[in-house]
Amino acid sequence: MQIDWQIASLSDWKADAIILFFYEDPSEPLPGVQKWLAEQGSWLKDSFALKDFKGKHQQIATFYSPPGQARIPRVLCVGVGPSEKLNPDKIRSATASALRKCRELKLERPGIPLSSFHDLPFDAGTALEEALTGGMTGLYKHQGQKTRDVEEEDYPQTLLIFSEEEPAEALAEIPARASAIASGVYLARNLTAAPANLVTPGYILKTAESLAQGYGFRLHAIDFDEARSMGMGAFTAVAQGSKEPAYMIVLEHAPEGSEEERPIVLIGKGITFDTGGISLKPGAKMEAMKQDMAGAAAVLGVFEILGKTKTKKRVVGILPCTENMPGGKAYKPGDVLRSLSGLTVEVISTDAEGRLVLSDALTYAQRYQPSAIIDIATLTGACIVALGYEAAGIMGNDDALIERIRDIGSRVGEKVWPLPLWDSYFDNLKSDVADFKNVGERTAGTIIGGIFLKQFVSDEIPWAHLDIAGTAWADKDAAATPKGASGFGVRLLFELVRS
Ligand code: BES
Ligand code: ZN
Ligand code: ZN
Repeated sequence: MQIDWQIASLSDWKADAIILFFYEDPSEPLPGVQKWLAEQGSWLKDSFALKDFKGKHQQIATFYSPPGQARIPRVLCVGVGPSEKLNPDKIRSATASALRKCRELKLERPGIPLSSFHDLPFDAGTALEEALTGGMTGLYKHQGQKTRDVEEEDYPQTLLIFSEEEPAEALAEIPARASAIASGVYLARNLTAAPANLVTPGYILKTAESLAQGYGFRLHAIDFDEARSMGMGAFTAVAQGSKEPAYMIVLEHAPEGSEEERPIVLIGKGITFDTGGISLKPGAKMEAMKQDMAGAAAVLGVFEILGKTKTKKRVVGILPCTENMPGGKAYKPGDVLRSLSGLTVEVISTDAEGRLVLSDALTYAQRYQPSAIIDIATLTGACIVALGYEAAGIMGNDDALIERIRDIGSRVGEKVWPLPLWDSYFDNLKSDVADFKNVGERTAGTIIGGIFLKQFVSDEIPWAHLDIAGTAWADKDAAATPKGASGFGVRLLFELVRS
């Protein structure tokens, strides 16, 4: 869906429908909507039928304009809930619901008055950005590889933003940014939803290559042999059981003027399929493990946005990509690995492979003298037990960084919740033969994953770890996030880089 401005006086606005927001209790239009209703929609305002509509959050009612009002033949009233509870989140989901309704009605060009976003308890830019981003991400459909019953046309094609005058510069640039963000989210969702026979480490590399080519990023792919000669013994141990070529992909965005900056490093777990390896997973729902590269997909999504928006920040992405397979050469429980850091790890479970590939990526990341490192990974099933599908777990060595990420997450609708990384948890990982084991007791699984990663990060570098095992895949339909691959982390990490 494209976004276009329609700058004209109110009586000249023309669209298939106008989307109007209403509060609940009492049901009344948002301040910026009243003018249109008074001047063009008096028929609706005075209509007895409007009383059927209560303004409950995401409630939608479609009204048809009387003859003579044909420039805008339909009015979609959309509820945002009680005024005292209004926040950008509600605007995002209400817009997403409205646009999904437009799709259902096969409307090509609906519109929203820019004034809807004025005189709210938060600034108009935030409201507009959430509305547009949420609207676009909510229209995502994964077509998969279906060849039958495929819907060809797509609705709506264009969303109009009505305004009586040229928008201020800060508002004028929002549609392009929202489109860029949506395309980053779409990229991450497409990669995550696609099957593992398509999205192999090689395919992720091709995707990174086309981003590098399109936006001028630097790219280096460390293949298996190079990784081994460098000493990445943890990454190569996981990769050695698979016939698919593995890559540690390093992507760098260093726009002019930022080359001397200490970069933010984003690390994304890229296990394109996790069988568990020799510690084989049970068969039920194993197909879900195609999503084990959602962290890598999120980082690529961020790069798509950085490229499109030409964000002036130095960012390095590191994507350890491999399958985790039980092949004849596969690593085994009891193996002792020597990681790039020099630390040795006793393998207890080959299914705790994510932390192994991440450990070498974390060590490698520190060569860039980063200002911060954030890793994002579908790391532990225990995170789903702890937080469900609602929020990602966050851990790290820097409370200020964690606070910042939490704050951004709640603003963009990607919630994260902290878990402690007290040193006493390390006792779980003590090994008789190596520096530590890759798995502890059954308790506190998500924290133990974090404690393991912490061994590879210098205390001097602010680092945060996001466990997205629960949030990478939406278990139910939500307005801005249809059921399926969520693209979780793309908006969050882009905002972190941007701010
Ligand atoms: N990829 C899984 C974690 C996962 C589970 C992601 C469910 C998404 C949904 C990870 O590699 C794994 O297998 N973790 C083990 C760790 C255990 C062996 C300590 C787990 O969660 O059981
Ligand atoms: Zn695993
Ligand atoms: Zn995994």
